[in-house]
Amino acid sequence: MNLYKNIVILTGAGISAESGVKTFRDNNGLWEEHRMEDVATPEAFMRDPHLVHRFYNLRRAQMSDVTPNLAHSALALLEANHRGSVTVVTQNVDDLHERGGSKDVIHMHGELGNVRCGHCAEVVQWHGDCDTKTTCPTCAAGGAMRPDIVWFGEMPFHMDRIYGLLAGADLFVSIGTSGTVYPAAGFVAEINQIGRAHTLEINMEPSVGASQFAETRHGPAGELVPVFVEEILRD
Ligand code: OAD
Repeated sequence: MNLYKNIVILTGAGISAESGVKTFRDNNGLWEEHRMEDVATPEAFMRDPHLVHRFYNLRRAQMSDVTPNLAHSALALLEANHRGSVTVVTQNVDDLHERGGSKDVIHMHGELGNVRCGHCAEVVQWHGDCDTKTTCPTCAAGGAMRPDIVWFGEMPFHMDRIYGLLAGADLFVSIGTSGTVYPAAGFVAEINQIGRAHTLEINMEPSVGASQFAETRHGPAGELVPVFVEEILRD
């Protein structure tokens, strides 16, 4: 542990795959039978808000059918037992890290469990369906609620805090992400520029940016992450 005081873990869809949540780019470019530009852009929401709400309502409902896997719980174990800091920066909008026991989790692409009012900008927790008729519980505006998800073309959340964490990291681990979507795909280059953290990729296959990592391990996260955590806690 003394080797790596501050640990930053970036996660993507691959860490939730063994829980039964579909990844984005493993299904002929379709995400749950939809093209991303039809459900994950502000333009799509303006064009067809019913479709976009229905899509995210289904994703939100699906959360109660899935449970955290061994990779999620291993990261929670690491956070609980490591004497330095362990922060999970996730691109995932599911809540499997939190349900797996992780406490310090940053959702840079938003959360399925939140909706936001386009009128007063208040973010509220949401468990059921949301649609074009939903009234804002804060300002009572009608029809202005949207999923609190970062869509393509929008600015990811918490970037100042994330870049601060990258600057202070001793170990950066990227798990289950294809390395195709920025700014997350650029974190390893950012770390390399600072030049002090060890970098490790854990992914089913080499990601687009695999060559930028000092160390790569390829295989299922549910097998490789518990092994990695055991190594860190043993050192
Ligand atoms: P992708 O679907 O692009 O990539 C998932 C990666 O996980 C792939 O490289 C897979 O090989 C790998 N993988 C699959 N199963 C795995 C397993 N069991 N163990 C380990 N790795 C596995 O998902 P992301 O990189 O997360 O953004 O996508 C990034 C962003 O693009 C998402 O957050 C989303 C999407 O558009 C927004 O919605 C804004």
